[in-house]
Amino acid sequence: MANDGVPALHPLLRGRSSPTGFDRRHAVTPEEMTSLIEAARWAPSAGNSQPWSFLVALRGDTTHERLVRHLARSSARWAPDAGALVVNLAHRYVAGTDWEYSEFALYDLGQAVAHLTVQAAALDLQVRQFRAFSLEGVVEEFGIPDHWQVTSMTAIGRATASGGTEAPARERRSVTDLLWPPSGE
Ligand SMILES: Cc1cc2nc3c(=O)[nH]c(=O)nc-3n(C[C@H](O)[C@H](O)[C@H](O)COP(=O)(O)O)c2cc1C
Repeated sequence: MANDGVPALHPLLRGRSSPTGFDRRHAVTPEEMTSLIEAARWAPSAGNSQPWSFLVALRGDTTHERLVRHLARSSARWAPDAGALVVNLAHRYVAGTDWEYSEFALYDLGQAVAHLTVQAAALDLQVRQFRAFSLEGVVEEFGIPDHWQVTSMTAIGRATASGGTEAPARERRSVTDLLWPPSGE
């Protein structure tokens, strides 16, 4: 319990942060990566639609080489050092149509990535999700069909001691400010 009677945040959540400094000597093993995808696999989704897919690249493999070419200038400064990069894809449409596969596809993908993030913390790995890359470049490079939406990437690895210098200070709105109605509205 925290002093004010509010239960303490679980250490896996309390200890999580998104570094921009990754130890380039540290490798994410295929077994760890399977465990991370397994965590995503067990995330809840609307109607159990599981509208997600993950394009996995381990540093040093060909997929990684192809992926880092499409990083934005900002993420190229730190993301290639991470042991793994994962492209997060949402199943947005039924193939060959403009019908939504699930109206919750993006919501569910985010939830699956959140599960992966907590599992990473349990494996003493750190994660930074990011959007600073060329969507078009990744779509073209890997021949992603229209009904899948390349949404974000996740860099996974062991943070350097400093955690990097590019992340801004971690600030959060207060708990009361999160409660409806939002203040000032
Ligand atoms: C969908 C999404 C997109 C993000 N895009 C970027 C990005 O392009 N570049 C970056 O450095 N960080 C990016 N981040 C990381 C956030 O900036 C970071 O999670 C936020 O500042 C909170 O910090 P914390 O995760 O350490 O609590 C992104 C995070 C999410 C969830």
